[in-house]
Amino acid sequence: MLHFHRLASLGAEVEGLDLRAPLDPAELEQLRAGLLAHQVLFFRDQPIGPAEHLALARAFGEPVPHPAYPHVDGFPEINILENTADKPPKIDTWHTDMTFLQEPPLGSILRCTVVPPVGGDTMWASLFGAWESLSGRMQRYLDGLTANHSFAHGFRHSLAEPGGWERLGEAVRRSPPVGHPIVRTHPESGRKALFVNRLFTTHINGLKESESDAVLSFLFDHLETPEHTCRFTWRPGSIAFWDNRATLHRPVNDFWPAHRRMERITIAGDRPR
Ligand SMILES: [Fe+2]
Repeated sequence: MLHFHRLASLGAEVEGLDLRAPLDPAELEQLRAGLLAHQVLFFRDQPIGPAEHLALARAFGEPVPHPAYPHVDGFPEINILENTADKPPKIDTWHTDMTFLQEPPLGSILRCTVVPPVGGDTMWASLFGAWESLSGRMQRYLDGLTANHSFAHGFRHSLAEPGGWERLGEAVRRSPPVGHPIVRTHPESGRKALFVNRLFTTHINGLKESESDAVLSFLFDHLETPEHTCRFTWRPGSIAFWDNRATLHRPVNDFWPAHRRMERITIAGDRPR
């Protein structure tokens, strides 16, 4: 029997699981239910490698490659997110992963393989909490609107670097801007989620630019308020598994120039509706 220790309005630490062994059907069922209930699950002291990481992800769906990140040798499904003194972190913005896709991921499983001596936490925010804490009038206004999400917007700083277009131009061409409902319904729980993010969402369709900017600015601030968030401090053997249809996240880049290395698998999702 697994135990879920709730951390905040979202997030729970899972106890009673050894990820070195394959999940049995009862454990898988409990993890699914736990992810639906808490939106992000944390595992401590799991001394696993890429093969076990991949097995855990495959229990929930098909891994999707990322157009911009390198991968672990022999494991094209596992992306490396690494910062060193020569390679400062580039993303410090709240986001949901890869919302520039027609079918953004179901979730991601992130493992810390080099933990910085101090700092380097990750934060998550609940899209359910953000939606549910809006007034009825605001909910009625937003329901039915769509917003555009853009890879080129999210990676504009990388594109502007020397060699940026050579490295990412093909990914920009393969990922034209895509429209998603601002309010999506979670396919498993039926809960409504406020589905915009500061990194990839560019504008609300049907509004004037000044109107869209003002509404999005309010929504981004609202999503990121501390009441909707939790924070996780990495240790060797720590893993986080989040529902990408129900959360935002952001790294806290207070560790740099120390070394931090993460390995991430992203699991294919469905079209938001
Ligand atoms: Fe991310």
